[in-house]
Amino acid sequence: MKQRSTWGSSLGFLMAAVGAAVGLGNLWAFPYKLATTGGGAFLVVYGVLTVLVGVPVLMGEIAVGRCTGRGPVEAFRAMHPRWAWVGWAGVLAGGIVLAYYCVLGGVCIRYVLLFAGEMLGAPAAENGFYRLLTGQTRELVLYALLFAGITGGVVLGGVRQGIERFSMAAMPLLCGMLLLLAGYVALQPGAERGYALLFRPDWQYLRSHFMTVLVTAAGQMFFSLSVAMGTMVVYGSYLRRGERISRDAAVIGAADTLIALLAGCVLLPAGFALGEDGAEMSGCGLLFETMYRVFHRWGGRLGGGLGLLFFGVVFLAALTSGVSMLEAVVSAARERKGRHGGPGWEKGRILGCALLAFLLCLPVAWDGLGTLPGRTPLALLRQWLPRLPEQGWNGSFLGLYTFLSEGVLMPLGALGMCLILGYRCGPERIARECGVGSGYLGVSYRVLGPAAILLVLYGQIRAFLT
Ligand code: PHE
Repeated sequence: MKQRSTWGSSLGFLMAAVGAAVGLGNLWAFPYKLATTGGGAFLVVYGVLTVLVGVPVLMGEIAVGRCTGRGPVEAFRAMHPRWAWVGWAGVLAGGIVLAYYCVLGGVCIRYVLLFAGEMLGAPAAENGFYRLLTGQTRELVLYALLFAGITGGVVLGGVRQGIERFSMAAMPLLCGMLLLLAGYVALQPGAERGYALLFRPDWQYLRSHFMTVLVTAAGQMFFSLSVAMGTMVVYGSYLRRGERISRDAAVIGAADTLIALLAGCVLLPAGFALGEDGAEMSGCGLLFETMYRVFHRWGGRLGGGLGLLFFGVVFLAALTSGVSMLEAVVSAARERKGRHGGPGWEKGRILGCALLAFLLCLPVAWDGLGTLPGRTPLALLRQWLPRLPEQGWNGSFLGLYTFLSEGVLMPLGALGMCLILGYRCGPERIARECGVGSGYLGVSYRVLGPAAILLVLYGQIRAFLT
């Protein structure tokens, strides 16, 4: 049998894994949630959850990958034949996230080109660019195809020459660009309003909305660390013996949180200092409208350059995450019933999986990321079932995909994983593999992890239905 690929260096693995963790969740969800769910108080809860639940679960995932030397599905099958579904839940969730990442990443490419043009002195882009773009389905689809193609291209290069080499270049670039932007924004008048909103701890809010803070922080933490989506298992499976998993998981958790905070220091101060009153401060609206307006207002070559940097950061974050998800999906396809085949098969598998993600993304592009009212899943369903209420859940395909992946499959997979780690394989084995005490892992897998996941599941389903 062909020997399994390995990372070239410890740093290479860390860059790839931090790249997988840092994604759109850090850039558009974290700053908004931090600012609206108690500021510094949210940060404290988030930090505690990351240390007590996120990092131990991350360690478990990486360790399962390394000790079995397999991708997510076969790794969990090796733990127990009846638990392969945990791997499938992760791969499916990752595949769905990858699908909508294709559209969002594609939109980023379009913005990078737009601001590059502005920097080079092309006529200023029109206002309301996002509205215009989301109405042009063909353009959205083309850019999504480009994003899927680039993602496939990186994965085609293999573990060392593709993923590792790309991450070693992309992650420092991403951090450098984000630091530059944060520095520039800090010098703008009014930026302090944004910082206050981000960091001032609202203990009163925490006391009166404790459950909301807990559910929001837990959901954000799982998604942001890319837990239970198959990616960390597959990246762990390329790790050599002797690598200290406990240190790596701690570095990944810390870097992911720091980059999310840094993103907050760009988005909110800039949004507040320069976005008009009533500007959208969450989701697609925050990234593609408010931030667009901010750079547009700065105008000219400077605004163009800053906009290019910003959307370059978002694009790289989406791409490094996309690559990890594609690698997880491909590894599941590769290991199905032990089919490996030659290099030609491998290429076909990678391109096939990228194409599949692209096909799955089409509905998200078709309803214009939820901006074209007649095309949402609810509008389609109401043609057959006119009695369905018009409101009551987030009716875009993007909303549906997010709900299925983050809201259902990820928590189920994460719960299964905690149960396997805590009861089937046992925290002692993982503790030995990672080089930490088994007490810490045991409490996390048996009690804290499942409790946090059940909270997330409850919160997501409630939010989806209301
Ligand atoms: N962690 C990424 C983010 O914060 C999302 C992601 C999920 C990436 C699953 C890979 C796998 O956006």
